[in-house]
Amino acid sequence: MPATLGLSTDELLSTTRAVRRRLDLDRPVPLDVVRECVDLALQAPSGSNLEPWCFVVVSDPVKRMAIAEIYRKAFAIYRDLPFAADKITKEDAARDAAQQRVMASVEYLAEHLHEVPMLVVPCVSTWDPGPMERLMSAAMFGSVIPAVWSFCLAARSRGLGTAWTTLHLMFEAEVAQVLDIPVDAVRQVGLLPVAYTRGEKFRPAMRRSVDHALHLDGFDPSRAPSAPPS
Ligand SMILES: Cc1cc2nc3c(=O)[nH]c(=O)nc-3n(C[C@H](O)[C@H](O)[C@H](O)COP(=O)(O)O)c2cc1C
Repeated sequence: MPATLGLSTDELLSTTRAVRRRLDLDRPVPLDVVRECVDLALQAPSGSNLEPWCFVVVSDPVKRMAIAEIYRKAFAIYRDLPFAADKITKEDAARDAAQQRVMASVEYLAEHLHEVPMLVVPCVSTWDPGPMERLMSAAMFGSVIPAVWSFCLAARSRGLGTAWTTLHLMFEAEVAQVLDIPVDAVRQVGLLPVAYTRGEKFRPAMRRSVDHALHLDGFDPSRAPSAPPS
């Protein structure tokens, strides 16, 4: 049996956070544990049961450094974009302050990414959208993202922290070159730092209420979902 923290399902779902500052950069992550997480992730659904995914697991320090440098180049652009975390305003001061903390934490990760013992790049095969772009793009991303989140949950269950990141995709082709990923045929969907967490206790996040998100019997425009400022 794998060593897990024994979290209840609801605890697991409500405390799987984006972990950055609390990643233990000094404790090695055994490949076997990452393998267990990938194995569980493969139980996720995919369109037509195609299983169009792969997880590129990066432990090589030279490759991690190369990826971190690309990531930092993207972070330098992101910090000035209108949708950077610290420029998003929420309904109250407490949540605005949380956005400032998110940005500081994003910056911390950018500075330390090369020190994270394992990086995981989940990928999906590129689907030709043909005349059905809305269907095919939703189906393509929907055929990998559930698996990636399962990976994050399985990692949390084993005491590992992850953070979903996408900034490096500004320079996806450069990371593809580092990892020999055929950039036209295979799309990267993110980059997960993976490390044991410092401490095991994480709290549920401050989010808008369920009443904001649950629209009964039809869309309620007074509670439209947020969109990034352009
Ligand atoms: C699609 C997506 C892209 C994200 N990109 C990044 C990223 O590039 N860098 C980063 O540090 N965090 C990134 N995040 C993490 C978010 O900042 C994080 O999920 C959010 O702040 C909520 O964190 P919490 O669950 O710990 O409250 C991303 C999350 C998602 C879902």
